[in-house]
Amino acid sequence: MDKNITDRVRRLRELLDKYNYEYHVLDNPSVPDSEYDRLMQELIELETRYPELVTPDSPTQRVGGEPLKAFKKVTHKTPMLSLSNAFNEGDLRDFDRRVRQAVGDEVSYVCELKIDGLAVSLTYEEGLFVLGATRGDGTTGEDITQNLKTIRSLPLRLKEPVDLEVRGEVYMPRRSFERLNKKREAEGETLFANPRNAAAGSLRQLDPKIAAERQLDIFLYQIGSAPGRALRTHSEGLEWLKALGLKTNPEWRRCATIDDVLDYIDYWTKKRPELAYDIDGIVIKVDDLDQQRRLGFTAKSPRWAIAYKFPAEEVVTTLEDIELTVGRTGVITPTAVLKPVQVAGTTVSRATLHNEDLIREKDIRIGDHVIVHKAGDIIPEVVGVLFDRRTGNEVPYRMPDRCPECEGELVRLEGEVALRCINPKCPAQIREGLIHFVSRNAMNIEGLGEKVITQLFERDLIHDVADLYALKYEDLIKMERMGDKSANNLLAAIAASKENSLERLLFGLGIRYVGEKAAKTLAQAFGHIDRLIAATKEELLAVDEVGEKMADSIRTFFDNPDCLALIDELKAHGVNMAYKGPAPSDESAADSPFNGKTVVLTGKLEAMSRGEAQKEIERRGGKVTGSVSRKTDLVIAGSDAGSKLSKARELGVEVWDEARFLEALKS
Ligand code: IVH
Repeated sequence: MDKNITDRVRRLRELLDKYNYEYHVLDNPSVPDSEYDRLMQELIELETRYPELVTPDSPTQRVGGEPLKAFKKVTHKTPMLSLSNAFNEGDLRDFDRRVRQAVGDEVSYVCELKIDGLAVSLTYEEGLFVLGATRGDGTTGEDITQNLKTIRSLPLRLKEPVDLEVRGEVYMPRRSFERLNKKREAEGETLFANPRNAAAGSLRQLDPKIAAERQLDIFLYQIGSAPGRALRTHSEGLEWLKALGLKTNPEWRRCATIDDVLDYIDYWTKKRPELAYDIDGIVIKVDDLDQQRRLGFTAKSPRWAIAYKFPAEEVVTTLEDIELTVGRTGVITPTAVLKPVQVAGTTVSRATLHNEDLIREKDIRIGDHVIVHKAGDIIPEVVGVLFDRRTGNEVPYRMPDRCPECEGELVRLEGEVALRCINPKCPAQIREGLIHFVSRNAMNIEGLGEKVITQLFERDLIHDVADLYALKYEDLIKMERMGDKSANNLLAAIAASKENSLERLLFGLGIRYVGEKAAKTLAQAFGHIDRLIAATKEELLAVDEVGEKMADSIRTFFDNPDCLALIDELKAHGVNMAYKGPAPSDESAADSPFNGKTVVLTGKLEAMSRGEAQKEIERRGGKVTGSVSRKTDLVIAGSDAGSKLSKARELGVEVWDEARFLEALKS
């Protein structure tokens, strides 16, 4: 064989491996895709001409091979155990206590994201990838080497010629999942319920070409065996895996105490939605390997690790009734009354059904078993019905044609899904309007919640928002659960609200289409309510952000003599009608280079922690997120910044170093 050819083949493989690693593991390509494709083409041609040069770790071999008839069974050299679970702080503190009882107080932990995918084991011999297997029942799994080779971030050869058995999780990134389901929908195929199921379905494909199309990825997190390699800690192991070219998850942290572990969990409970992949919890491992050995195993799981599971976000319960609520603008919203159930850590007994169309589309009936979903702080929602659990006794729901509160006529305005009560005197609307007026972003009257307002309204003590300012101590003290102190506090809060700047009043009045932001713009533009009242439609339209609909709505409001009378009454009570200018802190935010910007922090900062930096940015009107995307405006990179920095460069996002950041904080 011509030496020039063998050299060229070797060089091509080196380059392709390097570019592949940069792209799929480091997330930081140094050449365009076309260059990679050109070299790959050249290698394929050479290997076709000289088949004797093909090696199992050649980059051409990722999607080689014919479809299999069946997967071969593989017996794991050491069983692939699972972890015991923790569901709350108490469970974690118990775990910490058990650990310290066994090995003493000098313990530190490594926290890792619990990737929601499928556990696999990879075997490398002298650095060459020779076997990949599923977990199976923990003792025996299946040989899925062919499918695993299609994962581009999985190295076919390590950077050192070592023997290694390493474990990790194969997963499907959310974007690949969405792309896959879109394609399946277009082709009339059934959709995967979540990325995990999609990843599982892909690994089970006997034809590696299908797996290759599915864009799976992998994180390695645990060394099964590494003969001859003396490691002291798990974290050292993770660093080593990374140095070998394996993809490890960058978010792992060493935690010196269980309180640090709890902080890490808190952080990721909030940040979880920003990740590019699903996680279902946090894994906590004792870092010191000697301590791990002393702790040992129970029959099913190691004593040196535990998995904290995030609370379930979707559960099944019975829909007992549908109730209607009338909103401030007369919109009728159906609400599901549920058999109380725990979702994501809280008890849920009601969930919004949005509107009549949705009830019909999903065919939701009273008595149904329904799936209830709650993501983060969002209001619980009914996602769907378990039709298989129908008994035939479920009752279809029909919306009434009269308002449940005032018996007024319900209408469906053109182009709207909502039914509306159009009676302006509807008590429910008035009550909701009052609740809105006192709410935090409007007049912000502390101590005047929904309950007190409802009582005051039902006892005829208030009919409109001006009446609030006529309330007396004698009126308040008669309310349920109202003591001397709270009555006085409430009176003080009502009095204090008279000093609010105009935008709060404008928003509180509940003029249609005038939200918080528009209220501010209008207050700034006109300065005083009298000038706003006098403004023509043209003058309103001249204001930035005011459109046709809003201008008409404002005119309709102020052309109504009842509304004008209400404003006069408020004036008589001494309620401020002028714009008082932005508070000093908002003003500095407005001029700040961070105002309205989406910022990502990466690497280590010398002058402050990332948490402190985040607070400084947020105080100046910026938003801090965890990962770099096209929506990122600015990346602040401390020392040792890694993949986020590369990603920022790739997307052309502005990057500042720490010095520039500190400068901007001062200005
Ligand atoms: S360590 C003996 N670390 O969670 C310890 N597992 O029940 C082996 N998982 O089967 C597991 N992310 O599929 C570990 N960073 C992580 C993980 C992780 C996800 C999965 C894995 C395992 C299950 C634990």
